[in-house]
Amino acid sequence: MQSGGDSGAMRFPHRHLLAIEGMTPDAIGFLLDLADSYVDLGRSAERKSTLLRGRTLINLFFEDSTRTRTSFELAGKRMGADVINMSVSGSSVAKGETLLDTAMTLNAMHVDVLVVRHAASGAAKLLSEKLDCAVINAGDGTHEHPTQALLDALTIRRRLGRLSGLTVAICGDITHSRVARSNIHLLGTMGARVRVVAPPTLLPTGIERLGVDVFTDMREGLKGVDIVMMLRLQQERMSGAFIPSIHEFFRYWGLTYDKLAAAHPDALIMHPGPMNRGVEIDSEVADDIGRSAIREQVEMGVAVRMAILDALTRPLRGNQPQAA
Ligand code: NCD
Repeated sequence: MQSGGDSGAMRFPHRHLLAIEGMTPDAIGFLLDLADSYVDLGRSAERKSTLLRGRTLINLFFEDSTRTRTSFELAGKRMGADVINMSVSGSSVAKGETLLDTAMTLNAMHVDVLVVRHAASGAAKLLSEKLDCAVINAGDGTHEHPTQALLDALTIRRRLGRLSGLTVAICGDITHSRVARSNIHLLGTMGARVRVVAPPTLLPTGIERLGVDVFTDMREGLKGVDIVMMLRLQQERMSGAFIPSIHEFFRYWGLTYDKLAAAHPDALIMHPGPMNRGVEIDSEVADDIGRSAIREQVEMGVAVRMAILDALTRPLRGNQPQAA
């Protein structure tokens, strides 16, 4: 579990995990290899390591979360860290002020790792500039959600044996999705072909500049793909009419067996959760044991977060100093 050593510092020369954009294939590969070993640990009878004993991890969530927060908590606890959950959703304090005040408080407490989710894009980066500890972005607005993309990649790699050369369709509410953005960067960096499949109102302008193929017809977009990655319709981020109605959206953009028939016969179905059943995905398709990897994604989430905690705390544990 402590493999990598000095070469780990060379392959993963980061103090924080803020975004996938800009990460090298080698750094991503290093985290995925490390996460593989944590999947084995999670499935073993013992399940625990003591790597982070005496370290403090704070989960600071300004937005709701089930999977991400729980899996960071589990990951930290399985590695022996003291984990504190700070939930500040609903706070009415101006965002910038809250963040900077919080940063000063946390600095004074000598925290080792801060996991932060915030509605403002760039919030995690801002904190990383003010804090002495390692900062992990658990979702910043519509910008990035790097740990989600890493767990998605681990799920795909374990099921299909590779990322390179695969065709992945990311479908639905692309505009509001940090999951989409992180996945586009990661999959592209690792040599997969990415399609975005959505109604024009849910496609951000200039998305093709990220190197994706754009489809505004679902059956066309799913033709022959290896992975169908569905996204939640993020109504809480919509300030206008992006779709005619939920009913219409499901009819044209909801994943049903009928639309799935266009994909590769063994295509894997994914969703980061939380799912809106009957909106972006049909319940039967979501629960299809043979084809849906949705439950596996959650298991991989814990392993990926353990790997990230391991990699980011190596300097604290006396490995080679790392570059910023
Ligand atoms: C995603 C998020 O928060 O961005 N959820 C998650 O972390 N599993 C996707 C979403 O909320 O739809």
